[in-house]
Amino acid sequence: MTFNVFPLPARLPTRLNYLKLKEHLSPIPTNALIYLRGGTIKRRDDTDVELDFRQESNFFYLSGVEKAGFHIIISLTIDRIFLIPPTVLPVEQLWKGTPCTNTELLDKYDADFILTEEQIEEFIIDTKPNVIYTLDTSDAGYIPERYRDKIDAIRLRAAINESRLTKLPWEISMIRYATHISSHAHMALMSLCSSRRKEIVYEQELEAKFRWVCSRNGLNRQCYIPIIASGPRASVLHYTDNDKIVPGGPHALVLVDAGGEYKCYGSDVTRTFPVSGVFSNEAKTIYNIVLKAQNAVLERIKPGVYWRDMHSEIYSLVVRTLCHELVQIGLLVGKEEELIKIGVYRAFYFHGTGHSVGLDCHDVGGQRLGIFEHPEPAESELDLNRALEENMVVTVEPGIYFHNVSIDMWANNRNYAHYFNMKKINQYRSVGGVRIEDTILITADGHENFTIVPKEVQDIEALMKL
Ligand code: GLY
Ligand code: MN
Ligand code: MN
Repeated sequence: MTFNVFPLPARLPTRLNYLKLKEHLSPIPTNALIYLRGGTIKRRDDTDVELDFRQESNFFYLSGVEKAGFHIIISLTIDRIFLIPPTVLPVEQLWKGTPCTNTELLDKYDADFILTEEQIEEFIIDTKPNVIYTLDTSDAGYIPERYRDKIDAIRLRAAINESRLTKLPWEISMIRYATHISSHAHMALMSLCSSRRKEIVYEQELEAKFRWVCSRNGLNRQCYIPIIASGPRASVLHYTDNDKIVPGGPHALVLVDAGGEYKCYGSDVTRTFPVSGVFSNEAKTIYNIVLKAQNAVLERIKPGVYWRDMHSEIYSLVVRTLCHELVQIGLLVGKEEELIKIGVYRAFYFHGTGHSVGLDCHDVGGQRLGIFEHPEPAESELDLNRALEENMVVTVEPGIYFHNVSIDMWANNRNYAHYFNMKKINQYRSVGGVRIEDTILITADGHENFTIVPKEVQDIEALMKL
């Protein structure tokens, strides 16, 4: 299946990103430049084998260039963008092909002028900049010696993080598209599992199919290594071995946490579905608790809500839902308030409920978007310590996991053992783990869910019957 409706022209309007970034840099001294070097090709140890290349996110944000070896210079005084491709010697063209002409580059990228690498030094000297904004991660080797003291590698980071945190309409289209296609890829895996019910299925086949559906629709890279976690692996948060046989058995689930990226704009989606096409009672019970917790957050999330305040609000939404339901089904024993206060639920839930998504899976906005571990005030301006805003893109991803290490850690501690009903836990253990993760846009009065994979039990089962 292909979806040939690419939402945007090939020439991405990255100049809009620059203009937004500039607002966050002000006040700007006269004769100010931005200089960034994009990512360069790295090689496997002691060989000439190239490693897979993915552009550095900030460079992509300002240039739209996915290829290696470029530079960008932007004059903040005259708002002109200079793109500099890597010099490719004639002999190198035998291996790498003929580079684009300047006209082709200007057609392809949102820049005003093309310079050569050999012109960079002279250009900077002629400009006589009072400041050269760059990032501490960007190679400054091309900046002339005598202008090194004009480098400011601090302010740009804060401004670019600020700028990237909310998305422009065209960026939203990119992320929506990436998430829609990733959603179709998730559905394809449900279908693959159900059509192969009587045969052996390997986790790596599911990974290959996911990547195939993405690539077929222009998502040529993954936003992160897909997590194809079947059976007990579903309790391992970032399991990426993806090399086991998908198990049978009545409770067996597959947790797929995978999202493609479209021209560097990503998505982050998790679905958990039954290998057999039908949830066992135990699997369904756990699944519905997680879904209830996710819905509680989705109903509440909107602009103006302080993420920090949502710690406590979501704390009660997610954690209260989990604690209440785990007591109801008899896994946890005790008073809800006490269980919440002590944090006993952490035996089954040991990550935050969401994070910002954009050019990176865990995008700018700081660790504190993971919401439970950091009730204290944010320490730096890079931490998201402010109200959620329209046009932020975040995930909502509660889960319940039956990880032996975690359960043993809590249940073998004599201070906590009495909160755990091991007989019941053993009844549910082979469910492995459930996470449900959507990538959503914060809108004026709530959210738009970019994730279009079914998540109600009956809808997943119906899809798997097709
Ligand atoms: N895919 C990694 C995460 O959900 O945060
Ligand atoms: Mn996530
Ligand atoms: Mn994820």
